[in-house]
Amino acid sequence: MWQTEDLILVAVSLSVSVLACTVAGDGGGRPLVTAVTRDAATSLYTIPVKSGSPLVVDLSGPIVWSTCDDAASHDTLECNSIDCMRAHRFHPPNCQHTGYGMPDPGNPYRCKCTTHPHNPVSGDTASGDMTRVVLSANATDGRNPLGPVSFTAVTSCAPDSLLAGLPAGAVGVAGLARSGLSFPAQVARTQGVANSFALCLPSGPGNGVAIFGGGLLIAANGRPLTEMLVGETPLRKHKESPGYYISASKGIAVDGAQVPVGQYAPLTIGLSTTIPYAELRRDVYRPLINAFDQAMERQGGRVPSPAAAPFELCYNSSRLSPTRFGYFVPTVDLMLEGGRNWTVFGINSMAQVNRATACFAFVEMKTGDKSEYGGLAPPAVVLGGFQMQQNLLVFDEEKQTLGFTSQLTGRGLSCGQFNFTMSA
Ligand SMILES: *[C@@H]1O[C@H](CO)[C@@H](O)[C@H](O)[C@H]1NC(C)=O
Ligand SMILES: *[C@@H]1O[C@H](CO)[C@@H](O)[C@H](O)[C@H]1NC(C)=O
Ligand SMILES: *[C@@H]1O[C@H](CO)[C@@H](O)[C@H](O)[C@H]1NC(C)=O
Ligand SMILES: *[C@@H]1O[C@H](CO)[C@@H](O)[C@H](O)[C@H]1NC(C)=O
Repeated sequence: MWQTEDLILVAVSLSVSVLACTVAGDGGGRPLVTAVTRDAATSLYTIPVKSGSPLVVDLSGPIVWSTCDDAASHDTLECNSIDCMRAHRFHPPNCQHTGYGMPDPGNPYRCKCTTHPHNPVSGDTASGDMTRVVLSANATDGRNPLGPVSFTAVTSCAPDSLLAGLPAGAVGVAGLARSGLSFPAQVARTQGVANSFALCLPSGPGNGVAIFGGGLLIAANGRPLTEMLVGETPLRKHKESPGYYISASKGIAVDGAQVPVGQYAPLTIGLSTTIPYAELRRDVYRPLINAFDQAMERQGGRVPSPAAAPFELCYNSSRLSPTRFGYFVPTVDLMLEGGRNWTVFGINSMAQVNRATACFAFVEMKTGDKSEYGGLAPPAVVLGGFQMQQNLLVFDEEKQTLGFTSQLTGRGLSCGQFNFTMSA
């Protein structure tokens, strides 16, 4: 049964590649581009890839999931299919391995694949059938969208209740993690492109952009953002997590001075699109905020304001100088494996909490509820959306590297400059 469908898929993709010879912009073998929108209410990011409906971007999610019509009307994968195995390669936090599926009520000889869609915000995990849905985005040459491309992806169904805490209108989660069933891995397989993606998160209400499948990313003014990368560092594994981790092998510096957190160096740094602000383990958090506050004092103009939850270090922002890269405050250097620094400027370190107050946007990790690492030690640092915004990140699973630009705005660029007008 599933082999026949596989053949149909092969036939469909063959006809697509035949069309590629005659119709420009149908997407055969081209990367896909999508707008990335920030939801102000939840600080989550979405991409409109399910029939125009948004899915939440989750760098740590190993699968794509969305709500499904009732069981009778969607097809399910068999337990012994390769995609079912792929779906069971990673388990959500605190979720026991409960087998690959269950008997199909409609056919007792068939085992239907179930998996465990996880909501990264509420922490809830459900059980859902593995099915196939059509996802879509535009093909791109890195400069403009060229035309819509639809492809069949293997996804998990989830009950409506699993949408709790996600932005209004979102119908599920697009996992972008390092797994065989993540959104980028499925784009790579179906489009014949690299398993690599570029993510540029917006800082405000405008669009950011994501390109799946490698290649260039060019701003509307013609400048290739992908040539602005200042460094590249190896991707590392952390415990059983499918997410993205890098190593600050030389630690962290504030305004050029090493912060004394080296005892456990190298520091593992995770990246998360589902937490708003960087979370630091207590042994890293204390020395970092002390170093930052002292550097503020040395710099002058430090006028403390009362703490504004969740932040501890807050300042009178009318005493801070605004620049193209945010408030002029001490830089935080993440000194990464490979020798390059990811330098965090004010735009990624100072959150404006009200008209008069800006706070250092790094918070202490609550290790009590960090079930995410299966009870094992969490990484030293997890960067959040605020630290990644206006920074082009290239997650390359083939080279196993992360490329980064640091903030783009100081160079007159931004994540909102991709030209979303369809190429003529
Ligand atoms: C393709 O791009 C156009 C122009 O930006 C947009 O209106 C359309 O929704 C996109 N299609 C898909 C499938 O993303
Ligand atoms: C990285 O940052 C540290 C501390 O600010 C500095 O001493 C070092 O020269 C920087 N390295 C590079 C390659 O920029
Ligand atoms: C912040 O600084 C400005 C300018 O010096 C001052 O007018 C204002 O009262 C200060 N606000 C607070 C809350 O201290
Ligand atoms: C955006 O792309 C369209 C289609 O190629 C082009 O006509 C337009 O000039 C571009 N806009 C900018 C600002 O470059």
